[in-house]
Amino acid sequence: MPKTTLFVCTHRRNSADYPSCGVRGSETLLQQLKLATKNCNFNVEPNICFGHCEEGAVVKITPNGKFYHHVTELDIPTLIADANFLSTTALSPNTAPSVVDCDCPDSD
Ligand code: FES
Repeated sequence: MPKTTLFVCTHRRNSADYPSCGVRGSETLLQQLKLATKNCNFNVEPNICFGHCEEGAVVKITPNGKFYHHVTELDIPTLIADANFLSTTALSPNTAPSVVDCDCPDSD
């Protein structure tokens, strides 16, 4: 089973005619998300353009493939909760992480 990963689009276009997630703050979002999840049992990685550029900043969670649009730092708790849920439920009981091992903000 692949490890749960939050992919943050950090693509940046220097064009006033076409939007991009990087221009909308996704590089900062990526750093904030990495910091907030450093002890969590899922990955946070940059990604280059999902093709949803009009709706940036865009985050995709795998393995289920759900997209989050217009993401800001205010959405970090939701992203963490969803990734925690997916990483816990996607694993068998023998390999599921213990809640005690994770000090994510929503792991009480
Ligand atoms: S620039 Fe982020 S989805 Fe295209």
